[in-house]
Amino acid sequence: MSEQKHTEGSVQTTGHAWDGDLQEFNNPLPRWWVWAFYATVIFAIVYWIIYPSWPMGGSYLKGVMNTITYENDKGEEVTTHWNTRALLAYDMKNSDAAVRQSEYLEKVTNASYSQIAQDPEMMAFTRSYAKGLFGDNCAACHQQGGVGVIGKYPNLVDDSWLYGGTYVNIEQSIQNGRRGNMPNFESLSDKQKDDLSEYVLSLSGHEVNRNKAQSGAKVFQANCVACHGADAEGNTAIGAANLTDRIWTVADVPGASNLEAKKVAIKQVINNGISRHMPAWSGRLSGDEIKLLTVYVHSLGGGQ
Ligand code: HEC
Ligand code: HEC
Repeated sequence: MSEQKHTEGSVQTTGHAWDGDLQEFNNPLPRWWVWAFYATVIFAIVYWIIYPSWPMGGSYLKGVMNTITYENDKGEEVTTHWNTRALLAYDMKNSDAAVRQSEYLEKVTNASYSQIAQDPEMMAFTRSYAKGLFGDNCAACHQQGGVGVIGKYPNLVDDSWLYGGTYVNIEQSIQNGRRGNMPNFESLSDKQKDDLSEYVLSLSGHEVNRNKAQSGAKVFQANCVACHGADAEGNTAIGAANLTDRIWTVADVPGASNLEAKKVAIKQVINNGISRHMPAWSGRLSGDEIKLLTVYVHSLGGGQ
């Protein structure tokens, strides 16, 4: 041991001496540390009194807050031993925000479509609530915000509706699903298809060859009017597209750079037909959820 000298009384010692002169310093712990230590001890004891803590044989020290009662997903009241998972389930139903949400939900589900549309607060609530539902259930196909994918999933934002854009139409689409079917017309001759594609494009104001379009009109009368109508404005009862607007859902006309490419897009539909379907949600979403989604989708497209 080095001869470290300390002047008498500068450092407190415990008073013990070993080996003649080996002394033990007495440096007390900092006060704040000691208090913090006591605080943790008190916290632990209080915790044991309130919450379940120590295992005791086959059981455990239960504490005074030993049960928690909450409502489960099925709406049943469940009482279990206290645990944070049950606490979360309780808070999800009983926190201020949750109570406010369920009040709004009740208000909206009891209101008619037009009442919701006229009430900005209910509308704002519905939008934010249904946005989540849409993201979870619909966006995989219709994309976030409902813009769709041309040729695959209809655009729900453009206010052009295959099956109609009223609340009732949209509710039906979601509830029961939809099946869009157009047979293929592969058997038409190449000339007929070419004329037909010119005619179809002329319907939406494209500059086309007039003679070809005129003979195309005859082919259209013979093959297409049963579904698309004599005016080619479509039929919402069977989801036949309106061919006179400039909105396309299957034929990628907007993606084509010139008339020839646009004709190819139309001929693809003529050659292949269309078969696509929207799944039914009646078994998977509750009536209330479908109602909220209906309002949401209606508001996306401007609605009708
Ligand atoms: C698996 C893909 C898929 C999912 C998921 C899906 N849809 Fe669809 N949806 C389609 C297809 C495909 C069509 C077009 C059906 C047709 O042409 O007959 C469609 C059509 C629609 C229509 C009719 C559009 C019109 O122009 O009339 C509405 C409304 C709609 N979907 C809403 C929804 C909502 C709301 C959800 C979520 C609950 C949803 N869809 C989920 C594929 C899907
Ligand atoms: C049996 C009914 C039926 C007949 C007949 C029919 N169509 Fe269709 N057509 C449909 C339906 C339904 C759709 C929309 C399908 C969907 O979106 O799921 C459609 C869509 C289209 C589209 C795509 C429109 C777009 O917005 O992308 C074109 C183009 C078209 N039809 C052209 C024709 C032509 C040309 C004929 C005649 C040779 C014809 N159709 C005959 C039912 C029919």
